[in-house]
Amino acid sequence: MREASQLSLLTTNGGMPGISEDFTEQSRIVVHRGDACKFMQSVPSNTATLIITSPPYNVGKAYETRRSIDEYLMGQEGLIDELVRVLNDQGSICWQVGNFVEDGEVFPLDILYYSLFKKRGLKLRNRIVWHYSHGLHPSRRFSGRYETILWFSKGNNHKFNLDPVRVPSKYPGKRHYKGPNRGKPSGNPLGKNPSDIWEIVANDWNEEIWYIPNVKAAHPEKTIHPSQFPVELVERCVLALTDEDDWVIDPYCGVGSALIAGLKQERKVIGCDKETAYIEIAKERIRAYYKGMLPIRPIERELYVPQGKVSQVPDEWKSDEENTN
Ligand SMILES: C[S@@+](CC[C@H](N)C(=O)[O-])C[C@H]1O[C@@H](n2cnc3c(N)ncnc32)[C@H](O)[C@@H]1O
Repeated sequence: MREASQLSLLTTNGGMPGISEDFTEQSRIVVHRGDACKFMQSVPSNTATLIITSPPYNVGKAYETRRSIDEYLMGQEGLIDELVRVLNDQGSICWQVGNFVEDGEVFPLDILYYSLFKKRGLKLRNRIVWHYSHGLHPSRRFSGRYETILWFSKGNNHKFNLDPVRVPSKYPGKRHYKGPNRGKPSGNPLGKNPSDIWEIVANDWNEEIWYIPNVKAAHPEKTIHPSQFPVELVERCVLALTDEDDWVIDPYCGVGSALIAGLKQERKVIGCDKETAYIEIAKERIRAYYKGMLPIRPIERELYVPQGKVSQVPDEWKSDEENTN
């Protein structure tokens, strides 16, 4: 159970930039209702530093028509061509998917998507496992408890900022036991690499009950959208793969979670969705964010339980004040 204090009602200093419906060089926020592939044709080449999305999975959600798996993948090729064109040379695509299931047979969508990106020259940098702990319990196979994010870069010169996404080390007190650095701390004072397994609240939002005084509520970010990104999931990618003022694009933006993650980190954002209702909610959420009225779960910092000396922060990393206390 989480504390109410973990909710952050974010406030911003500056005014809100206008929301454009179509791309212009002057825009900072573009939110477009329409078909993703058609819309992306209007975005200039080499614009985006990050394209992050969760495409429709073809599982029969309210916003999709279920097709055969081959038809579904073929239908994505035109959009992927456009996305690769729009991505700049330092850019990355993060493609978040789960499984398509037919008659109990599982088709892992990341495996099927991999070749669509690979044949266009993109390079896989990580296959991130997004693990969560709730969901359906099938009777004739094990319960599925993860989805994946395929992170591809366009080339070898991709942006990667590790420091803003480091997480606290489990054993910050570990030291080199041999070599020229013998006796010195072996980790990094800013924390460790978060690895490719991410534990971030996911599809269990309807089930997870947060404790808020006198109120029982679902995840504070939840809207009517059936498969919404947690903002913090996108935020980690935004921080690691882009810099301020870079363009972040979500071609299937739903209710705009990726856009909020980008704006929170001072990036320029573009989102598209075919459903008017989701686009309206995305715009409302952006406005609420700028008014400081949008509840967002703060970016996760891994917790650790101290165990022995190696779990203590080395004295060299402590401030003078901490060392005298
Ligand atoms: C998995 S959801 C993405 C949810 C989003 N990540 C969020 O946090 O709200 C996929 C979205 O794709 C949209 N969609 C499906 N086909 C589309 C198309 N051809 N063009 C634009 N959007 C489409 C759906 O309406 C749906 O909102």
